[in-house]
Amino acid sequence: MTNSKTPPSSQNQGQTPQPEGFRSGLTNYGDAGFSLFLRKAFIKGAGYTDSALDRPVIGIANTGSSYNPCHGNMPQLIEAVKRGILMAGGLPMDFPTISIGESFAQPTSMYLRNLMSMDTEEMIRAQPMDAVVLIGGCDKTVPAQLMGAASSGLPSIQLITGAMLTGSHRGEVVGACTDCRRYWGRFRAEEIDHAEIEEVNNRLVPSVGTCSVMGTASTMACIAEALGMTVPGGASPPAVTSDRMRIAEETGVQAVRMAQSGLTIDKILTPAAFKNAMVVLLAIGGSTNGIVHLAAIAGRMGLTVDLAELDRMGRDTPVLVDLKPSGDHYMEHFHAAGGMGTLLRELKPLLALEAMTVTGRTLGEEIDRAGAPFKQAVIRPLNNPIYPQGGIAYLKGNLAPGGAIIKQSAASPALMEHEGRAVVFENLEDMALRIDDLNLDVQADDVLVLKNIGPLGGPGMPEAGYIPIPKKLALQGVKDMVRMSDGRMSGTAFGTIVLHVMPESALGGPLACVQNGDRIRLSVSRREISLLVDDAEMARRMAAAPATRPTAARGYRKLFLQSVTQADQGVDFDFLQANPKQET
Ligand code: FES
Repeated sequence: MTNSKTPPSSQNQGQTPQPEGFRSGLTNYGDAGFSLFLRKAFIKGAGYTDSALDRPVIGIANTGSSYNPCHGNMPQLIEAVKRGILMAGGLPMDFPTISIGESFAQPTSMYLRNLMSMDTEEMIRAQPMDAVVLIGGCDKTVPAQLMGAASSGLPSIQLITGAMLTGSHRGEVVGACTDCRRYWGRFRAEEIDHAEIEEVNNRLVPSVGTCSVMGTASTMACIAEALGMTVPGGASPPAVTSDRMRIAEETGVQAVRMAQSGLTIDKILTPAAFKNAMVVLLAIGGSTNGIVHLAAIAGRMGLTVDLAELDRMGRDTPVLVDLKPSGDHYMEHFHAAGGMGTLLRELKPLLALEAMTVTGRTLGEEIDRAGAPFKQAVIRPLNNPIYPQGGIAYLKGNLAPGGAIIKQSAASPALMEHEGRAVVFENLEDMALRIDDLNLDVQADDVLVLKNIGPLGGPGMPEAGYIPIPKKLALQGVKDMVRMSDGRMSGTAFGTIVLHVMPESALGGPLACVQNGDRIRLSVSRREISLLVDDAEMARRMAAAPATRPTAARGYRKLFLQSVTQADQGVDFDFLQANPKQET
């Protein structure tokens, strides 16, 4: 990986010192002296003194947006980060980048994640800074920032916006978005009426901040801390709390120290850090999206996340965190239970304790520095898990020769070993047209198959893998069925749902040749997903309908379709990955 902005401390002794702060990364006018003169003249227009401009410059990636209420506390966070930077002797410079609010991005937020990572990387490279604070929270923003920062190579530290508070509906604690889906399912089944679904709509999101369950945002917050990329305890404080603001101030202080010590991101995002992140992903019953994002971040460091290894680790890593959708509680309860400090202490025997963190101390040292354990009911001890294995299992079979995954901790035990008749939807439009048809030929023990929602087919691998229970069956009280697709699902969703089938159907994967009435077998114990059709017939079907890679005439969509990789490579663009790759 190349890094055009070598941080001060990684310079070799005896070489000419590289420029720092405002003297670094000068605009090309062919006269470096004039470039600096001009830069200082303009920044002085904003009232800065020479003494301020001599300090280490700390960039702050500002992802505030009216379209992103998950980042609604951005102004307060930036103020607190700036306070920390000034306290430590640095000069804070916030700058805007793309922000992506999960439910405000069409066709899907994932389509834009790589664009945000490119924006983040290039703005870090282009502007003078000695370290960067990345402020993100909603599902795609933290992965995009970590991907961009990883490629930029600078000292980088992640600040999470924090989870929203929980709400209350008619005496029941509710939170986005597991309860959004649960209540919508009840509405579809006509268990609640229009007035109640409108009422609960006001209760599900009672404050700014990210989803309050262990969805993708909370998963990525925990992964960021497990990677060593946040200050200790940075994952869990809710968005509107003083704890969150103190974390922000501390992040600013730490960013200056990282700039001064040259603690670049490559010293933190090592194979040991990714192993720790995988252990945590499994133990929190984390979002299946977490593994896609982790693969993308690893790819930027020239590393590969091995899904078979994740599965092996999962057999020794139980789910300890009792949060929805795998359990009962919400992020504010996880925080009250000690957050990642408590969890990492429990997971200590499974972790690579030598991994470096943004504090300059190892993860093991940080675990030892965390407070003593106390009685709580949200983060279980290793010998009393809420689920005996890790949350995510890796499946293979003739339907998914490149693999597929299932969130077993959020699946129905009765459906984990299941054989059923395929009911096929060719794409999202086909599903939308027919899923509510009361004459749809579907039974509760069928397997719902949705094609063409992969990275290319979606495009952008939309979170449509949570195929709704057909209305006909929902009205009969059916809550779960085996469902499968080449897409993703929200981390807040639950059910017996096979995702990320590879290769995707738009690339001619075997999923493309499934027909109504075929038999499909899911065996989570054997890690198998199979189409019970003989090889000759499958070959005949695939030859009869060869796939051509989708294309577009212009713009970002053209770039996306030309360059996007499959789920196991993080759905990143191939040209953004570092080379050579090695397994974590
Ligand atoms: Fe932003 Fe859930 S919608 S975190």
